[in-house]
Amino acid sequence: MEVVKLKEEVRRVMEKARRRSASIGFVPTMGYFHEGHLSLMRIARSRCDFTVVSIFVNPIQFAPGEDLAGYPRDLERDLSLAEKEGVDLVFTPAVEEMHAPDRSTFVEETEISKGLCGKSRPGHFRGVTTVVAKLFNIVGPCLAVFGRKDLQQLAVVRRMVRDLDFPVEILAAPIVREADGLAMSSRNVYLSPEERRRAAGLYRGLEKGARYLALSASSDDLAPIIRNLSREIEEETGGRLEYLTPVDREMIEVEKAGDCRFLAAALRLPSARLIDNVEVPAGEPYA
Ligand code: PAJ
Repeated sequence: MEVVKLKEEVRRVMEKARRRSASIGFVPTMGYFHEGHLSLMRIARSRCDFTVVSIFVNPIQFAPGEDLAGYPRDLERDLSLAEKEGVDLVFTPAVEEMHAPDRSTFVEETEISKGLCGKSRPGHFRGVTTVVAKLFNIVGPCLAVFGRKDLQQLAVVRRMVRDLDFPVEILAAPIVREADGLAMSSRNVYLSPEERRRAAGLYRGLEKGARYLALSASSDDLAPIIRNLSREIEEETGGRLEYLTPVDREMIEVEKAGDCRFLAAALRLPSARLIDNVEVPAGEPYA
C-alpha cells in the first residue's frame, strides 16, 4: 500500500494504474475509521482493480464553532486498517495541499443541500461538494463509494456529478450499525456512557416510523405521525430532534406517505449531534 501526501503523487500513481487499464475504486473519508468506512473499502475492492482512499479532515465543511479542532484522528491506526483491507493507495494531504489560503472558487449544489442538515449547518454542503469535486479531479475517472449514513451528502454529490458531468460513478453503500442499531460514526466517541446507552433510541424510532409510514401509504397528512414519533424519540434518547423528515430518494421533503422513500433525522444530544435514516419499506429498492 502506498501512502502519499501530494496531489502530484496521486496523479502519477493513477496514471500508472490507468496505463495498465485498471478500474479505479475511490473512497473519500475524514479518517478515524470504523466498520462503516471499512465496508466502503471492501465494496470498492470487490468492484475495482485498484482502490484509493483519501483521509482528509476538510476544514471548509466545518462552520466556526463546530468540532474541526476536536475531530477524532488516528492516522497510524487508519493506515494499518486500510492496509488490512487491501487498499492500494491512501492520500493524506495537509490542509495547505488541498486549500490555497486565497482560494476563491467553490462548487455549490443549490437545491438538495438547502433542507435538513443544510438548515442548521449553512455552508457545510458547499464545503463537501468543493472538496469532493477537487478529490474527483485529482483521482480521475472512478467508481466512488459513499455511505447511505450521510444520505443527504450522497444525494448532493450525485446531483453535482450529474450536473457537472464528472466522469465518476457513485455507488451507495448500506449503513453499518452497532449491535443495538446505532449507526456507526467517528463522532460516536463524543457520547458519554449514558448518551451512548440511549442513542440507539433514534434508530428504533426511525424503524418504527418507517414501518408506520409504509402502512399509511394513502395518508396525505404526515404531520401528526411525525409529531408523535418525535415525542417518542426525544423521550427515549433524552435528546432534541433538529429534524425528523419524510423525504424522497433525493432527500427532498414530501407531504404524502406514498411519496416517502426515507425517514431522516438529526438528533442533538449534549455531547454530539447524530444523523440517521431508514428506508421506508415500499416501492422499488433504493440502488
Ligand atoms: P466521513 O464522515 O469520514 O465518511 C466517509 C464515508 O463513510 C461517507 O461516504 C460516509 O457516508 C461513510 N460512512 C460513515 N459512517 C458510515 C456507516 N455507519 N455505514 C456506512 N457508511 C458510513 O463523509 C465524509 O467523511 C466527508 O464529508 C467527505 C465525503 C470525505 C468529504 O470531506
